[in-house]
Amino acid sequence: MRMVVLGLGYLGATHAACMAELGHEVLGIEVDPEKREQLAAGVVPFYEPGLPELLRKHIDSGRLTVSGSYRDAAEFADVFFIAVGTPQKKGEYGADLQYVDAAIDELIPLLTRDGLILGKSTVPVGTAQRLSDRAAELAKDVDVEIAWNPEFLREGYAVKDTLQPDRLVLGRFAGGRAESVSRDIYSSIIDSGTPFIITDPPTAELVKTSANAFLATKISFINAIAEVCDAAGADVKAIADAIGYDSRIGRKFLNAGIGFGGGCLPKDIRAFMARAGELGAAEALTFLREVDNVNMRRRTRMVELAREVCGGTLLGKRVAILGAAFKPESDDVRDSPALNVAGQIQLQGASVSVYDPKAMDNSRKLFPTLDYSSSALEACDQADAMLLLTEWQEFLSLDPAELGKRVRHKNLVDGRMCLNPTVWESAGWNYRV
Ligand SMILES: NC(=O)c1ccc[n+]([C@@H]2O[C@H](COP(=O)([O-])OP(=O)(O)OC[C@H]3O[C@@H](n4cnc5c(N)ncnc54)[C@H](O)[C@@H]3O)[C@@H](O)[C@H]2O)c1
Repeated sequence: MRMVVLGLGYLGATHAACMAELGHEVLGIEVDPEKREQLAAGVVPFYEPGLPELLRKHIDSGRLTVSGSYRDAAEFADVFFIAVGTPQKKGEYGADLQYVDAAIDELIPLLTRDGLILGKSTVPVGTAQRLSDRAAELAKDVDVEIAWNPEFLREGYAVKDTLQPDRLVLGRFAGGRAESVSRDIYSSIIDSGTPFIITDPPTAELVKTSANAFLATKISFINAIAEVCDAAGADVKAIADAIGYDSRIGRKFLNAGIGFGGGCLPKDIRAFMARAGELGAAEALTFLREVDNVNMRRRTRMVELAREVCGGTLLGKRVAILGAAFKPESDDVRDSPALNVAGQIQLQGASVSVYDPKAMDNSRKLFPTLDYSSSALEACDQADAMLLLTEWQEFLSLDPAELGKRVRHKNLVDGRMCLNPTVWESAGWNYRV
């Protein structure tokens, strides 16, 4: 089938390449000329394991092409995926839908045949209905159907999550062709037994925001327990292990530490609260404010721990930050807890050296005033404290003896609780979480 993907960021580029892998002919539309040029040349402008091979394969095969022209899009196909960003509005909790609106406003007047628009971006409940009304105003002698097909991929596993998702969700209005077209698009995935959940659009929109709200809540739950553990002298990791064996609870997303960040969870829970408020249901989600508060307190706590191990002040101290991406296997630094902590420590007078295996370029763009090192060892040179803030595999195999020779003081704050305290303590390190 022929289809267009509007917006080629983390979600859209992955979706476009994966749709080509499923056998479809795909045109990707991207407004950023630099990204577009790279993608058209078969180069992924961000780090995502497995995606470069897939993109190259389908650019070479001709099944995936890239353009910046909405006219090309309108001519190429009559199925369009929306994969543009929906960031947090500046100074407000709500989602900024200007990119989604721009895509609709630009595409629909150009359509000369009936079209189906499948939204993948994460949007507030009610968006598909609003866009449907807008589409009816903009369409010239054609029918445009809008449905929502939210995306659940995780950065770092994006290709696998797109080709072998846990489930597919489609929210469609009655009487349209969204369901039958989606069944065709995803036929091989559905045939392999993946649940395909068909709902109305508001339900599909809420499936996505509810999933993210639940994940954020689970992380903040264990971090709240970590706060009590600090006060009571108890071991939060043992608690997570013990309660995680209960299949009703599960161990995943119960790692206490620096908390969540990235381009999705923080902005999605805030947009969810804002939308509930608009709908008169604010009270239902007041707990998410506390989820957000607990999460942000973790960052402050990391800074306090760093100050404490440095003897009560960060002025004039050297601090090594290992990890800058919001999670391992990604170079995404949007709302990265690690960089946020690095910035706060620098503001308190320390010189901060950051190292990340993949996110150095993005970090430099966002925090140009931090120092950056080309390896973990270099970042730790003469450090008074080392903070591990992203659990990259590379950091799990660090040698405490070798690092011990580089630092000035053997202070380690394990912001992800991912190192073995016994190993580090027996090498003379002051291990703190
Ligand atoms: N990144 C993830 O892991 C993930 C997972 C699930 C859902 N989502 C959701 O997917 C959406 C996109 O997220 P992302 O991380 O890919 O963002 P992103 O910022 O990486 O990508 C968005 C892309 O859209 C482009 N764009 C903006 N306006 C455009 C327009 N009018 N036409 C064409 N292209 C345009 C931008 O230049 C950018 O390349 C968001 O709603 C996000 O919440 C993201």
